[in-house]
Amino acid sequence: MAERLEVELARDGIGRDEIERQTKRSRARIQNAPLVILCSLVTEGLVPQRDERREALEWQMAVQSVGAVLQTLFLAASERGIGSCWMAAPMYCPEAVREAMALPPVCVPQALALMGYPSDWGKIRDRKPFHQVVEFR
Ligand SMILES: Cc1cc2nc3c(=O)[nH]c(=O)nc-3n(C[C@H](O)[C@H](O)[C@H](O)COP(=O)(O)O)c2cc1C
Repeated sequence: MAERLEVELARDGIGRDEIERQTKRSRARIQNAPLVILCSLVTEGLVPQRDERREALEWQMAVQSVGAVLQTLFLAASERGIGSCWMAAPMYCPEAVREAMALPPVCVPQALALMGYPSDWGKIRDRKPFHQVVEFR
C-alpha cells in the first residue's frame, strides 16, 4: 500500500520529502494500531442491471453501504471509549491487498478501520455550525 501511495503522490507532483513523510506516517499508523479491520465490498450480492448507468448506480449503493457499515462501527466503538481511524488506502491497490490477505475475487477491499484505546484526546477539530451544513427547505 505504501508503494501505491508513493506512486499516487508522485503523480500529484508532491515533493520527495513530503512523500516520505506521508508514507512513513501511513505505515506507522497501520503497524502501531492495536486492531486493524479490513472492510471489503463483496460483489456476490449485487443485482445484475440492464445497462451501464444502472450498473454504476448499483455499485454506488454498495459503496455507500460500506460507508454506512464503517460509520456504525466507529460510532459503536466510540461509545465504548475506543478510538478509530478510517483509511481508504486499500481502495488504491485492491489486487495487492487481496493477494496479501488471500481474499477471493468477490472481495473488493475498501478501507482499513484502525482501532484502539486512545492514549490522549488527540486533535480537537473545529466543527462548522449545524446551520452551515444542514439546509431545510
Ligand atoms: C473516507 C476517509 C478515508 C480516509 N483515508 C485515509 C487514508 O487512506 N490514509 C490516511 O492517512 N488518512 C485517511 N483518512 C483520514 C484519517 O481518517 C484521519 O481522519 C486523519 O488522518 C486525521 O488526522 P490528521 O489530521 O493528523 O491527518 C481518511 C478519512 C476519511 C473520512
